[in-house]
Amino acid sequence: MTERFDVVDVIRTKRDKGELSGDQIDWVIDAYTRGAVADEQMAALNMAIFLNGMNRGEIARWTAAMIASGERMDFSSLSRPTSDKHSTGGVGDKITLPLAPLVAVFDVAVPQLSGRGLGHTGGTLDKMESIAGWRADLSNEEILTQLEEVGAVICAAGAGLAPADKKLYALRDITSTVEAIPLIASSIMSKKIAEGTDSLVLDVKVGAGAFMKDLDQARELARTMVDLGTDAGVKTTALLTDMSVPLGLTAGNALEVRESIEVLQGGGPKDVVELTVALAKEMLASAGKGDVDVEAALKDGRAMDKWNEMIRAQGGDPDAPLPVAEHTEDILAEADGVITGMDALDVGVAAWRLGAGRARKEDPVQAVAGVEIHKKPGESIAKGDKLFTLHTATPERFARAKEVLADAVAIGEAYTGPESIVLDRIG
Ligand code: URA
Repeated sequence: MTERFDVVDVIRTKRDKGELSGDQIDWVIDAYTRGAVADEQMAALNMAIFLNGMNRGEIARWTAAMIASGERMDFSSLSRPTSDKHSTGGVGDKITLPLAPLVAVFDVAVPQLSGRGLGHTGGTLDKMESIAGWRADLSNEEILTQLEEVGAVICAAGAGLAPADKKLYALRDITSTVEAIPLIASSIMSKKIAEGTDSLVLDVKVGAGAFMKDLDQARELARTMVDLGTDAGVKTTALLTDMSVPLGLTAGNALEVRESIEVLQGGGPKDVVELTVALAKEMLASAGKGDVDVEAALKDGRAMDKWNEMIRAQGGDPDAPLPVAEHTEDILAEADGVITGMDALDVGVAAWRLGAGRARKEDPVQAVAGVEIHKKPGESIAKGDKLFTLHTATPERFARAKEVLADAVAIGEAYTGPESIVLDRIG
C-alpha cells in the first residue's frame, strides 16, 4: 500500500514546532495502529509533542482520530440518562466504588468502564476482583442490560474502544512521554467519547501522588479535556482535587473495597465521603437531577442496596468476607506532634511494593496487599503510636516497603494543607 505521507516529514514538522495538518494526524494515528509507522517513529513524534505541544485544533483532531480507530458504544436505547466519572489517578482513589451505586440510586445510569493498575496507582478492576466471584469482563450487550436493570456497572473497557490509544499509551509508558497535557487529554477523552456517555465529570488530581504536581498545570489539563468533551457533544465538567496526601485510610485492593463499603454504610473517612458526595452532585446536576439529597442515600442504605445489586449482577457475592493478609507489620511514629505531611506517592509505591500493584501489565496482583493509614495530616500523634500497618501475603516485601515510607511522613507543629479536598471546578 502506498502511504499518503512520509512519517519522517510528520515528525520533522512537530520537531520544528510546526502545526500538524488534520490529514497528517488522521494518517499517522491510522498508520501507527495498523503497524505502518514503527514504534521508534511514533516515540519520536510523541517526544516532539511532549516538548513542543499541540494547539486546540490539533488536539481535537488527534482525539477524533483515536476515536475513529475503534468502535463507539451507544447508550441511547436506555430509559435514563448516562453519566460517567473519570479520575486522572491517585493513591487510595477508590471513589468509583461508592460513587457508581450512589448515583444510580437517582435513576441516572453509570457506565464505569475501568482499567487495571500500572505503577503506583491502583486499578479499579484490581480492587473489585477482591470480591469473591465478581467478573470484570462483560459483553456490550451485558453492559446495556445491567445499565437498564441495575443502573450501574463497573467493568473492563473492551478492547474495541480507541485501540490506537492502547498502543500509544503502552509506548508512552516506556518512553517517558506520559505527562504531556495534549497526550493525556486526548488519551482519556478518546475513550470517554467513544464510550458514548451523555455527561462526564472529570476528577483531575493535583499534588505529589498525581501526574499534575501543581494547580496551574491541572487547570490546563482540565480545561483541555472539558473543551474536547463539550465540542464532541458530551456535557463535561471537572473538579480539581487534592492528591498531595493519599485519599482515605487505605491503599491496596481488598483494603480499599472494605473502606468503600464503610462509606456505603454511612461511615468511612471524611475525605472519601466528601469527594464521593461532591462528584455525585456534579454528575447528577449534569444529568438534570441537581436537587436530590445525595448524603441521605448513603445514610439510609439505598446506596448500599444498589452496590449489592451491582455486585450480584456480575456474579459476585457481596456477603462473602473480603480476603485479609496473613502477614502484617506496624510502623510507629518516631516523634510527638502534629502530622504536617504524608507523601501520597511514597504510600502508593509502598502498597505497590507490598504486592498491590504490578510493574508489567501481565503481572498478577495480591488482593490482600496494601497500606493502612492510622493517622492523617492535621491529626496529633505521640511517639510510638501506630502510623501505618503494612499488609502482604509475601513478608519478604516488607523491607522495601518500609524503605520508601521512611521519609513519607512529616511531624511538626501545625498543618497548613487545604481545608477541602475540592480545590477548583472547571465547567
Ligand atoms: N490515563 C489515561 O487513560 N491516559 C493517560 O494518558 C493518562 C492517564
